[in-house]
Amino acid sequence: MNDLDLLVRLYITQLRQGPGGNEETLLAAKLAKLEETEPLNIADIGCGTGSSTIALAKKFNCSIQAIDFLPEFINELKVRATQEGVLNKITPIVGNMEELPLESESLDVLWAEGAIYNIGFEKGISEWRKYLKPGGKLVVSELTWLTEKRPEKITTHWEKEYPEVSTASKKIAQLEKHNYKLLGYFPLNENCWMKNYYEPLQARFESFLEENSDKSTAAKELVKENQLEVELYKTYKEFFSYGVYISEKL
Ligand SMILES: C[S@@+](CC[C@H](N)C(=O)[O-])C[C@H]1O[C@@H](n2cnc3c(N)ncnc32)[C@H](O)[C@@H]1O
Repeated sequence: MNDLDLLVRLYITQLRQGPGGNEETLLAAKLAKLEETEPLNIADIGCGTGSSTIALAKKFNCSIQAIDFLPEFINELKVRATQEGVLNKITPIVGNMEELPLESESLDVLWAEGAIYNIGFEKGISEWRKYLKPGGKLVVSELTWLTEKRPEKITTHWEKEYPEVSTASKKIAQLEKHNYKLLGYFPLNENCWMKNYYEPLQARFESFLEENSDKSTAAKELVKENQLEVELYKTYKEFFSYGVYISEKL
């Protein structure tokens, strides 16, 4: 078993694989001016087990291509979408965000919550642009500094983990550079991190360690890393969050 298998085992039981919330998904959709009755062709990139896919499918008259490179997450998304009665609106796809199996100018909306960092923000917004119709909407969430001045410990941690982390003004400038018009921005609140993501994850640690006792060193290490991330969030939450960027392809 490699580390990726352990990650899958830890996260697959979770409703979300990153910070966020259904209310915030729908707020972003509102800022993108999506109409409930208008037929929409959406792609949800790095969809995980489908939290945003399902929230969008429930609200909109849409067809969603839900894409993630982990087959286990895509299978779980199918189970959840079936339970929620929206699988008919979703095409689950195992695919890589670096080579998306999408047609040029086919999308009304490209959605990616907590996932664009895997390709990198600037590369993602520039390479994914071609899949959007003119006037199509891009909605992405991205690790963002909330202030220019910060304690050194948190700056060092996130710059090592994700060198593209920066302030919203710099991210917005990148969107503008790639010819997107900003429609809205908001940082995720504390509930999106703690109540919706970290607390359910912490509640999973004990059973995860029991289930993976044959790989106890690697499993313990993974729990320790996640626990450290939670502590960093609690201590430094004034200084960073995920920012949600809503923009339009010009
Ligand atoms: C932090 S999770 C967010 C999942 C989901 N959007 C959510 O908010 O709950 C990032 C997701 O990106 C997926 N991912 C990572 N690299 C990928 C790639 N190259 N292509 C497609 N998906 C990828 C992971 O499998 C994971 O499901």
